[in-house]
Amino acid sequence: MRGIDKHFPGVHALDQVDFEVRAGEVHALMGQNGAGKSTLIKVLTGVYRRAGGKITLLGRDFAPVSPADAQRRGISTVYQEVNLIASLSVAENLFLGRAPRCWYGLAWRVMRRRAREVLTGFGLDIDVDEPLGRYPVAIQQMIAIARAVDVEARLIVLDEPTSSLDRHETDVLFGLMGRLKARGIGIVFVTHFLDQVYRISDRITVLRNGRLVGTFEAERLSRLELVAHMLGKSTEEAAVLDAQRAGTSAAAKPREPVVAAHGLGRRGAVEPFDLEVRRGEVLGLAGLLGSGRTEAARLLFGADRADTGRVTFGRRPTRLRTPRHAIAAGMALCPEDRQTDGLFPEMSVRANIALVVQRTLSRFGIVSRRVHERIAHEFVRKLAIATPDVDRPVRNLSGGNQQKVILARWLACHPELLILDEPTRGIDVGTKAEVERLIERLAGDGMAILFISSELEEVVRRSQRVLVLRDRRVVGELAGERITERQIMNMIAGQQSDEA
Ligand SMILES: Nc1ncnc2c1ncn2[C@@H]1O[C@H](COP(=O)(O)OP(=O)(O)OP(=O)(O)O)[C@@H](O)[C@H]1O
Ligand SMILES: [Mg+2]
Repeated sequence: MRGIDKHFPGVHALDQVDFEVRAGEVHALMGQNGAGKSTLIKVLTGVYRRAGGKITLLGRDFAPVSPADAQRRGISTVYQEVNLIASLSVAENLFLGRAPRCWYGLAWRVMRRRAREVLTGFGLDIDVDEPLGRYPVAIQQMIAIARAVDVEARLIVLDEPTSSLDRHETDVLFGLMGRLKARGIGIVFVTHFLDQVYRISDRITVLRNGRLVGTFEAERLSRLELVAHMLGKSTEEAAVLDAQRAGTSAAAKPREPVVAAHGLGRRGAVEPFDLEVRRGEVLGLAGLLGSGRTEAARLLFGADRADTGRVTFGRRPTRLRTPRHAIAAGMALCPEDRQTDGLFPEMSVRANIALVVQRTLSRFGIVSRRVHERIAHEFVRKLAIATPDVDRPVRNLSGGNQQKVILARWLACHPELLILDEPTRGIDVGTKAEVERLIERLAGDGMAILFISSELEEVVRRSQRVLVLRDRRVVGELAGERITERQIMNMIAGQQSDEA
């Protein structure tokens, strides 16, 4: 791709960008939220028309008119948003638009058998006749990936494929990427996980504000230089932002409990557990995907009904039967999946941010547009949400900035207990540091925070206590000095020794 240009109203998303992928390389595309990564990919794969520039594919001019066209020419893509069809079966999704046929129509038996083969290759043992929507996002993401790599492709583009995958699933994907690479297929890999970039990539291209910063050999680019390039800062400044490795939060003196759960559980979701979060405390929940973290949070919030146990919020035992009760009582839950749990893509940034707080405020009358406006502006600034103004529809924001809008919505409620389920997924390093600082500040101001994250580093850095879950059970608790990645991993693996 040479001199690629792309404008959106009010945004110069790509400005003279050059990008090149070789056969048999993994090429990481990096940059902060809104840098232009997804846009570059969408230009490459025929989703958007470019305003200027030139693309060559295998030595020939290439001007895809649609994603299907790009796919026919050998480019297969997994977009940041899973764009499969929830109501169709897993098998139908895998073969969407390329289903095997026979003289009387679709060859269902063949399709099912092939679907099973493909998924077994991914270590997925699931019913291919079930509608896709029945499965969790991570599985859907795996299916989207399986679909992309199953077609005869010369170039595979993966836009944040691992953001909802756990360690094991990521390993499976990386193994597969290695095999594709060996077959001479070029791979474009977009991610915000720096460790993953260094594990798998040969070269790294960095974008910033729609411009090319440079393309580098991964071996020759230090992690710090990479962060500095993305942020447009010196390596010294970047060192402060890069994960702030050293600074564990000052253990604030624990105060009275804000919320306590006793024997709270739900069959099939999570076994009965006890939990307590105190004012000013960050309690981490660690565990693999599907270990019951999200389920535990949902029980606490009243989003799912518990079979057993009780919750005390403030001083009183409460029966939080619905999220509405929970919100009114002073809880907020920022959900992990922005696609299905909460963003209204057609609505403005302002409306999306003010959505919940307006309900609580409007008990005292109608909330004026001015108030909305003020709240929206405050959080757009605080979280550095990249948008030309607050009236844009949320769908126009980059993936990471959409995530920030959800976070803003719940922060705007000033809850006593804030539950954050994967708040930094899809968020770039600079903003991740911002979010972490925000968590610390909120806790410092006395908020109780329940923090769920797959990134152990983050959990270790921010939590005063950590509950570890395995197979839908709380298997242990760590506090203070004992909170280390290794300890958590051992508990997740069910090992007491340090062998893991
Ligand atoms: N359809 C659209 N309409 C208007 N603006 C858009 C559209 N798509 C992207 N943009 C804008 O273009 C810029 C680049 O967005 P893009 O999605 O490419 O970022 P990204 O690098 O993929 O970020 P992230 O890491 O958050 O996914 C952003 O400012 C975004 O708001
Ligand atoms: Mg993106």
